[in-house]
Amino acid sequence: MINEVKHPLIEHKLSILRDKNTGTKEFRELAGEIATILCYEAMRDAKLDEYEVETPLQKTKVNKINEDRYAFVPILRAGMGMTQGIETLIPNAKIGVIGLYRNEETLKPVKYYYKVPRDIADRTVILLDPMLATGGSAIDAISMLKEDGVKDIKFLCIIAAPEGIKRIEEIHPDVEVYCAKIDEKLNDIGYILPGLGDAGDRIFGTK
Ligand code: PRP
Ligand code: URA
Repeated sequence: MINEVKHPLIEHKLSILRDKNTGTKEFRELAGEIATILCYEAMRDAKLDEYEVETPLQKTKVNKINEDRYAFVPILRAGMGMTQGIETLIPNAKIGVIGLYRNEETLKPVKYYYKVPRDIADRTVILLDPMLATGGSAIDAISMLKEDGVKDIKFLCIIAAPEGIKRIEEIHPDVEVYCAKIDEKLNDIGYILPGLGDAGDRIFGTK
């Protein structure tokens, strides 16, 4: 299911992210900050374990998230731009990576790397990629994680196209998708409109 997270801070940060004059440093920082807000929303249903601690005054019951229940998996390259923003919230989560790039003619994702924690099947995976365009990359990444036994996956993206949302909901209806904005459509070479351009190039400064 798609969740478009609505918040004035997201609107504000997105306005700078979309601007073609925004430079690499600021773009990277903003992608991380938006990821933090998306993760905050995605973790509303996080399970809490009760503990007892002693404050300077008395013993009291407290609730903690078990960070060992989580793994972050950025889709390379652009997903790396969101990772730092998530690490600030769950610093002890393990991190895997999935390397995929889109073939520019077919728009089909090509896998070039896959490395995830050995106990990934026991964790909730927060999958990261700023762009959900045709949906091919996210769908393949989710399928790979499911083949490894992962049962609980949340996908965080910054911009989602209606075409990609439709496909991901058809193929992986169990995956909750959190995005900062649902955009209008794809253009004829598979870029999101109005979008923000090529997220990987803007995060890594490669163009
Ligand atoms: C971009 C983006 C997604 C993918 C989205 O990656 O970061 O991974 O395209 O498109 P899709 O929904 O149509 O699959 P890209 O292939 O440009 O690779 P990069 O991150 O290495 O730049
Ligand atoms: N990948 C990007 O980086 N941007 C798009 O608009 C579509 C796919």
